[in-house]
Formats: sequence, structure tokens, C-alpha cells
Amino acid sequence: MKITINSPLDMHLHLRDEDMLKVVAPLSSKDFTAAIIMPNLLPPVTTIQDVKAYKQRIKDAIGDDNFEPLMTLFFKDNYDYEFLKEAKEYISAIKLYPAGITTNSEGGVSSVDASSLAPTLKAMSELEIPLCIHGESDGFVMDREKEFVPVYEHLATAFPKLKIIMEHITTKDSVDALKRHDNLYATITLHHLYITLDDVAGGMLQPHLFCKPIAKRPEDKEALLQVALEANPKVMFGSDSAPHPKTAKEAPGCAAGVFTAPIALPALAQLFDKHGKLENLQAFISDNAQKIYNFKPLKKDITLKKEEFEVPANYNNVVPMFAGEKLSWKVL
Ligand code: NCD
Ligand code: ZN
Repeated sequence: MKITINSPLDMHLHLRDEDMLKVVAPLSSKDFTAAIIMPNLLPPVTTIQDVKAYKQRIKDAIGDDNFEPLMTLFFKDNYDYEFLKEAKEYISAIKLYPAGITTNSEGGVSSVDASSLAPTLKAMSELEIPLCIHGESDGFVMDREKEFVPVYEHLATAFPKLKIIMEHITTKDSVDALKRHDNLYATITLHHLYITLDDVAGGMLQPHLFCKPIAKRPEDKEALLQVALEANPKVMFGSDSAPHPKTAKEAPGCAAGVFTAPIALPALAQLFDKHGKLENLQAFISDNAQKIYNFKPLKKDITLKKEEFEVPANYNNVVPMFAGEKLSWKVL
């Protein structure tokens, strides 16, 4: 059995920089036609100059592959209308991180508050620049996303024309909130469709499955699966593939992030196939995102075959999800 996906999109991707960029970028550009590139470098991507230079480094790393890096800026509350008007030409979205909530987010906003962020959000709304948010509070780790839901709802109500992407949602609460507001959308990762906290810490600790937001409860995973498998038009695939060197993962103080870019398409095909929903994969991996972000990607057809694929143990010492395991689909 085979399936062809037209223009697969990864709407949340970490490509890093320098040597890591050279290792991971070709693994995404091989299987995807475009990806939203996260700006959480050190220092973060905050100027038009940064965006252009980073995009060029990505293009250099992928060689001749037909792949469009869709760039983002790291949200700062001092971005004004004139700056954003100029930046719009070079970016697809702006990513907001609460300060210190995840890898390289120290320069994020100290309080996600609609009135103090109003000038920037108003300008983004007028300029039709989508706002991507890492939505977690600084509360108890299992409750962080749930506690952030009222913030999403407040922003969605205060700025009804602003497209807000709830990034890498992990809870049923987020799925419910998404359905209550026309201008809320969400990305869903591969790993949150496969695992719960049990897989991370229920037995021997699995550092390669440790990420932010942490995987949640079975009922949360079920809620995510439901909207993903039906390809609900408000959700789209965003891998949040977040590579770290093996030494940073297999260590005390394990870095957060699951590396899924090279196995994302086969693992998604396996999942949708298992649930008898292969016909919805195209919408989840591409069509929904095109409508939400209102763009036409480069044309690229990727064919997958139902055939055993043994996932490599690592890619230059970056360990992918399912390392050493067998998946039932492979990219041809
Ligand atoms: C991401 C990273 O490593 O950059 N880590 C993660 O656990 N997902 C940052 C993020 O998206 O939170
Ligand atoms: Zn991320």
C-alpha cells in the first residue's frame, strides 16, 4: 500500500544553528516542502537582519532541496507598527514565549497580558501577522497548559482579528478552548499523539521523550488524537522537532525536546493507518495549515509505502524518537 502527500508542511520546527543546523536541516528538507522555523536561538531572532541571515544559513544547510523556511521573529513587546510593517515581508509569524518557560526562552515576556502587549498585538492584528504562543504558566508542571487557557481566551477576545496559534497543545482543555474561538488555531506534535507521561516517566526514565510541554494524561492524548485524525480544520501538524546532542539529553538536567523530524511522516502514516484515517492525513499535514496561514507552498509530492523502516539509533549523535525501533511505513 502507498500514499502520496502533496506538499507536507511542518508548522513548528527547531533547526538550531551551526553544526546542529547542518545535521538536522536536510532531514526536514528531504520530507517537507516548508516549515515554520522557531526563533529561539541564542541570542533569539529579533531583527530583520537576524531573520534574513538565519534564513540564508538554513538555505546553505539544505543545498538543492526544494524547501522553504518560513521564518519567525521572537516576540518582543517593543515591536512597533513601522518595524512590523517592514518585517512582514520576511516572516510568516511571530512566536511568543513566556520568559524562561522552555529552551532558550529567557528573553521572553515576563507577563502575557493583553493590555501591556496591546500596541504590538494591535499592530500584528492590523498587519495580519499570526501570533504563535508557547502557552504555559509557571505553575505545577502538569497544570501549566491548563492554567494558560484563560490567557489564550482573553487574547482571542481582545484581538478578534488576530490569528493565534496555540503551539504544541497537549490537553483536552486546549482542544475545548480552540473550539470556542474563531481566531484560535493549534499545532499538534507527533509525540503528543503517541505518548503520555507514563511513557516518559512511568517506568525507566526516557530522556528522549522529555519535552515542554510535558506529555499529559491518556484522556488528553485521546482528545488530541480525535481532532488530528478527523483533520479538524483548526489543527495542523507542527512537529516541534527539537534536537539536542545526545550528551545534553542523557544527562542530569536533561534538555527538553523530542527529535522527530526524520521519522515524522512514517510515524504519522502509521498512526493514521492504524486508526483507518489515512484519507485525512493530507489535510492534517498540509491543507489545514495552508488555509490557516493563507499561503500556497511549493509543490512537492512525497510518497510513503507500507513497508518496514528501522529507525536509525542516531543521526550524528542526535537521537530520534523511536530510535532502533521499527515503523510500518517508510518514505520512498
Ligand atoms: C524546544 C526546544 O528545545 O527548543 N523544546 C521542547 O521541549 N519542545 C522549545 C519548545 O518548543 O518548547
Ligand atoms: Zn518548539
